[in-house]
Amino acid sequence: MGRGRLPARLGLACGLLLLLPGGWGGLGSRGTATRGPWEEERGPVAEGGPWGRARYEAVKKHLGAVGALSKQYWQYLACKVWQEHCDEEEDEQPSPSPGWSLPLVGQDYLEILSAWYCSFGKCCKTGDCRIINNLTGLEADLNGQLHGQHLAKEVVVQAVQRFLQSPRPEKALVLSFHGWSGTGKNFVARMVASHLYRDGLKSECVRVFISLLHFPHHKYVDSYKAQLKKQISETVQLCRQSLFIFDEAEKLHFGLLDAIKPFMARYDSKGQVDYQRSIFLFLSNLGGNTINEVALDFWRAGRAREEISMEFLEQRLRLELQEPEESGYACSLLLKENLIDFFVPFLPLEYHHVKLCARDAFLARGLPYTEAALDDVARMMVFVPKEEKLFSAQGCKSVSQRINYFLP
Ligand SMILES: *[C@@H]1O[C@H](CO)[C@@H](O)[C@H](O)[C@H]1NC(C)=O
Repeated sequence: MGRGRLPARLGLACGLLLLLPGGWGGLGSRGTATRGPWEEERGPVAEGGPWGRARYEAVKKHLGAVGALSKQYWQYLACKVWQEHCDEEEDEQPSPSPGWSLPLVGQDYLEILSAWYCSFGKCCKTGDCRIINNLTGLEADLNGQLHGQHLAKEVVVQAVQRFLQSPRPEKALVLSFHGWSGTGKNFVARMVASHLYRDGLKSECVRVFISLLHFPHHKYVDSYKAQLKKQISETVQLCRQSLFIFDEAEKLHFGLLDAIKPFMARYDSKGQVDYQRSIFLFLSNLGGNTINEVALDFWRAGRAREEISMEFLEQRLRLELQEPEESGYACSLLLKENLIDFFVPFLPLEYHHVKLCARDAFLARGLPYTEAALDDVARMMVFVPKEEKLFSAQGCKSVSQRINYFLP
């Protein structure tokens, strides 16, 4: 192991050296580099060595400041440059090969190398160009475009942020979205995909499963199971960070959960693939009535909906989801097995929220709008309950199509 592949690695590393912009003199010299820091018990930044301080500074200056390397990033880099750490299970010994291991080479050296590698556009800050993890953007866009959902916004942003920033999460992140249709569950799932992945929902690291579309017939559950398992395991092997979205989760056959469960469970160190960086989103309208009742109660009591707290709502949600009539739903199983990390409640939308959705729809098409036009769109929706006419029965669903009626 290790040693045998050294020449190949060096060749590749030197290839990179030669690609450096500007005259780097001795840096590109194959002989110097081969003899260099790899083989000799000498630090990469030792004076006079191929990585003398002056040159090191020059490289660093040239490339600009580089942030601290995450372990995953290092592994990615090591894999790309040296074919090392790509498949950890290949090596029986826990520590990497001697001679050129991490402590000897030194963090500074890695910084430079990684900066190079990235300067060729082959990798990104996250260590993989397909993954962008734009958390600031996610938060900003949810703030600007998700209306009336103070709880969902907060829970999603915090959960995703904490998960992605944790160096070694214990398990996959599992979020269960609940609420009536049109309240923004799909919208948020799409937002998460588009801010974590360059290609959004189209990314090869993102898979969307819609119960009635992908698994329509109960009699085929076994073959669905096999397919689902295959797709999930292929995706986690292809991507260091994957996102799985299950829409219409209330119609997800609980048998299919057997296929998904191993990927969500706590990380087992003996596992071949590291499943830890997977995010699972389950979208359902279960619990929607409970959420709406709570919102209505608050309104009737003259309290602002922003006063509804997560603690209060989660308790009610859990109770409802544990009721026998919901037991067919895979979620009750998820709940029982403690696989759900966060409930994400979506509150019913009021008239002024629908107007904001209409405004966004005009803006998205670059069309001018008037207050009257927004009112016209909002008035097309049905509001419930009968007496108060408080909540849009369809939330903001199809609002963007409805603006067609009001175009000049
Ligand atoms: C992050 O998202 C915001 C909002 O969508 C966007 O304006 C910004 O350009 C994104 N940043 C990166 C680095 O992709």
